[in-house]
Amino acid sequence: MTTKPAIEIVGLTKSYGDHAVLRGVDLSVPAGTIFALLGSNGAGKTTAVKILSTLLKADGGTATVNGYDVATEPAKVRESISLTGQFAAVDEILTGRENLVLVAQLRRLRNAGLIADGLLARFALTDAAGRRTATYSGGMRRRLDIAMSLIGDPPVLFLDEPTTGLDPQSRIEVWKTVQELAGHGTTLLLTTQYLDDAEHLADRIAVLHEGRIIADGTLAELKQLLPPTEVEYVEKQPSLEDIFLAIVGHDGPSQARTQG
Ligand SMILES: Nc1ncnc2c1ncn2[C@@H]1O[C@H](COP(=O)(O)OP(=O)(O)O)[C@@H](O)[C@H]1O
Ligand SMILES: [Mg+2]
Repeated sequence: MTTKPAIEIVGLTKSYGDHAVLRGVDLSVPAGTIFALLGSNGAGKTTAVKILSTLLKADGGTATVNGYDVATEPAKVRESISLTGQFAAVDEILTGRENLVLVAQLRRLRNAGLIADGLLARFALTDAAGRRTATYSGGMRRRLDIAMSLIGDPPVLFLDEPTTGLDPQSRIEVWKTVQELAGHGTTLLLTTQYLDDAEHLADRIAVLHEGRIIADGTLAELKQLLPPTEVEYVEKQPSLEDIFLAIVGHDGPSQARTQG
């Protein structure tokens, strides 16, 4: 596909005092793809996302989102995006449905109730719709958070560490949610510290390290950066995660769990 990029970053720099966090970041995210920005804790992922979502000003370089410059057309950028932060924005006093209705009303949409019900169904939260979100599992809360960010159909979605702090089963629920979204043509930029997030979800992966993008490509392209591994004839042992999931079962999102 030759559509214009949904996000284009050139030479982006940002320092906090004399701590240079972004030292010339270049990135191009094709429209309609899932793009993972991979980096360790403190690499500057949230800083980059804040600049792209107009919450923070860059020191240098340029960035456009949905064709709009974040520095000179911030209002247009804000109309084009939604941001799900590292710490879920869900109101615990309200039920899942009330959270969704509230956001739809804040966005001045008609039929807030209908929109909420549609999203509850789409994110497998219908059974839990009338419960206060304080009783939701981490995965359910994160799904609700993502559902809230979809209200108003923004073409570009930022998910800052959508799986951090989740148990393995909840992470898989969130993976399914994210994959579902990509099928609807939304461009997703997600940040993560975890290789397997990127491996499972992303069409393209960029690695942010010491202020720069040190690798950028599809998973297959990135794998070619590594020397081929020697074939070893050992029995494959299941990972701890395999075992955990086999024990707890993982056939789709669970509605009944209350772990937070
Ligand atoms: N407001 C701030 N003031 C000073 N330093 C900050 C601020 N925000 C982030 N940092 C520092 O910038 C670096 C990158 O932070 P951040 O973008 O949050 O990384 P990540 O999201 O990849 O974990 C970290 O060293 C962090 O401590
Ligand atoms: Mg962060």
